[in-house]
Amino acid sequence: MKKVKYRHSAARLVLLSVSFIFSINAHVIAQDSPLSENEADVQETVQGPEESNVEAEASGGDAAAGKELFNTLCAACHKLDGNSIGPALRGVGERRDSEWLHEWIKNSQALIASGDEQAVAIFNEYNQVAMPPFPQLSDTDIDNILAYTNAPKAVPQEKQVVGGDAAATGGGGSGVSTDVILGILALVLLMLLVILFLVNKTLRRFAAASGVELPVREKRAGKPIWKSFVENQFLVILTSVILVLVGSYFAYGYLMQVGVDQGYQPIQPIHFSHRIHAGDNQIECKFCHSSSRVSKTSGIPSLNVCMNCHKSISEVAESTATEEYSKEFYDGEIAKLYDAVGWDVQNQAYTGETEPVKWVRIHNLPDFAYFNHSQHVEVGGIACQTCHGPVQEMEIMYQNAPLTMGWCINCHRETNVRTAGNEYYEKVHEELTKKYGVEELTVAEMGGIECMKCHY
Ligand code: HEC
Ligand code: HEC
Ligand code: HEC
Ligand code: HEC
Ligand code: HEC
Ligand code: HEC
Repeated sequence: MKKVKYRHSAARLVLLSVSFIFSINAHVIAQDSPLSENEADVQETVQGPEESNVEAEASGGDAAAGKELFNTLCAACHKLDGNSIGPALRGVGERRDSEWLHEWIKNSQALIASGDEQAVAIFNEYNQVAMPPFPQLSDTDIDNILAYTNAPKAVPQEKQVVGGDAAATGGGGSGVSTDVILGILALVLLMLLVILFLVNKTLRRFAAASGVELPVREKRAGKPIWKSFVENQFLVILTSVILVLVGSYFAYGYLMQVGVDQGYQPIQPIHFSHRIHAGDNQIECKFCHSSSRVSKTSGIPSLNVCMNCHKSISEVAESTATEEYSKEFYDGEIAKLYDAVGWDVQNQAYTGETEPVKWVRIHNLPDFAYFNHSQHVEVGGIACQTCHGPVQEMEIMYQNAPLTMGWCINCHRETNVRTAGNEYYEKVHEELTKKYGVEELTVAEMGGIECMKCHY
């Protein structure tokens, strides 16, 4: 009689698992189609800028080359949108005659002196501030710059989709797909619960219908479970061993984390974005961290270095704003810089009232370890990003590498010394390659894992 109880359950289970698997598949299939629509979207907008490039080229210039020239020569005084020291330059090719522009850019003062009406008018409009002559620019250079200034303004909407594109190709951590996956998981879990509940219910009803008596949970006479457990020595020993093993595993993991600040990302007194400076505007790392070339430390630039540019950049372009940080926010951060150096934007003069900015130090080795930047950057030729990660993408700086001893040593074991063109190394290299019988020397073979090299 007992067997009856589960007679049909096998068939039911199969049926349920089939429907379960099917329901997951349905989700995956449903998820596929909007995704591919998205892709189509992305492709469309990706084409957008390309087209505008083509247009620009048709009008006689390479906008990309123009952008570079513009940023190095003109950006100090001109913005594409909005006036700064000079007028906004977007679409200037439509406002003015091409020949006039060429003459103006090559030597505006000569044009003004010649009595050209337009030239005199704009010169007076801008309080007779002289724009420097650029005799070094060829006609093609100027065409390139004009092509860049004539490119239509990027529409914010487009920017968003392009961002989505980056997130999609960035893989792994993209917001959309994790949300979708989490949603699906939650749904699946919910369905599992419902299914279990239903299975339980039907089985009970089925049992009742076929007259099977379900065992009623009854209080078992005799010892409670924990008592029999305590009395079973083998089980007690086994559990203790497992507990000790698991415990020490976690304790070890915790201790290895002590003093390791990977990912440390403090809030700085001024929100300084490496993404905007080193990424979007391609300012060289060593322009600001100039001492990394010659000394042990890289150092943080003094505020005077900032003012080289920020005397004329008091606000960011509209297109710099992101969803997370608005233009007002960024402009406010530049205002903090002005407060710190005592710069009066209205009168374009220093007030003399300064208050130092206290940057929070992020990377910090213990005092007993010696690390030298110029040795790695200049002599070793290692890119900053190898150790500091994708700095040009960091909105807020964080510590990318663990900075543990194992991290230093691993790289020294794996990296070959760059000896080409380094006379000092030639002899050492010759001797050591013979000694080790290898073509290329790793840093370790050259002595890079001797304790005294890093510890004093
Ligand atoms: C030192 C500041 C400064 C730099 C650098 C500078 N300009 Fe100018 N520019 C001005 C000023 C100021 C004016 C307004 C006229 C005047 O006062 O001479 C102007 C006017 C112009 C105009 C006329 C705009 C109009 O609306 O008619 C053009 C075009 C122009 N600049 C192009 C350039 C280009 C291209 C570069 C880079 C190769 C450049 N400028 C670099 C300060 C500068
Ligand atoms: C316009 C100037 C500027 C440029 C260009 C720049 N930085 Fe910085 N960097 C700063 C300032 C200011 C700080 C301090 C504020 C902060 O931590 O964000 C800093 C901080 C850092 C730190 C953290 C220092 C610490 O406290 O441990 C690292 C690492 C760094 N920069 C690397 C780079 C690299 C790599 C590049 C090139 C890709 C670069 N920087 C380009 C100005 C600059
Ligand atoms: C080589 C030129 C240059 C130097 C040097 C420079 N900046 Fe900038 N800065 C820029 C440009 C360009 C922008 C972006 C303007 C835009 O997007 O329209 C900017 C934007 C900013 C912003 C607003 C965006 C953000 O990052 O939050 C702040 C704040 C700022 N800079 C602070 C600093 C500080 C502090 C220093 C010195 C450590 C510095 N800048 C050095 C060129 C420079
Ligand atoms: C081989 C790895 C490595 C490379 C390459 C490297 N750094 Fe560093 N960086 C470090 C370490 C390690 C520290 C922590 C040093 C300390 O605390 O003494 C550090 C610290 C810094 C700091 C904090 C201030 C200081 O000087 O201690 C800045 C800024 C910095 N690095 C910028 C740069 C820049 C810019 C480059 C490229 C020109 C660069 N780093 C290349 C490993 C590296
Ligand atoms: C990305 C790889 C890399 C990392 C990470 C790295 N190094 Fe190096 N290190 C090198 C290279 C390459 C050289 C050889 C440079 C040269 O040509 O002299 C070197 C050389 C050295 C030297 C000189 C060795 C000698 O024989 O003279 C010292 C000291 C040193 N590193 C310390 C450190 C410390 C401390 C750390 C960790 C905080 C570290 N390095 C992390 C690549 C690395
Ligand atoms: C390439 C550079 C380098 C070499 C070679 C090196 N160390 Fe270290 N060592 C470090 C750094 C960097 C730290 C700091 C790690 C941290 O803060 O987590 C460190 C930390 C230590 C510590 C403190 C414990 C710890 O892990 O924080 C001891 C002890 C130590 N080293 C011993 C040695 C001995 C012994 C040798 C020779 C066999 C040696 N080191 C060789 C870079 C080096």
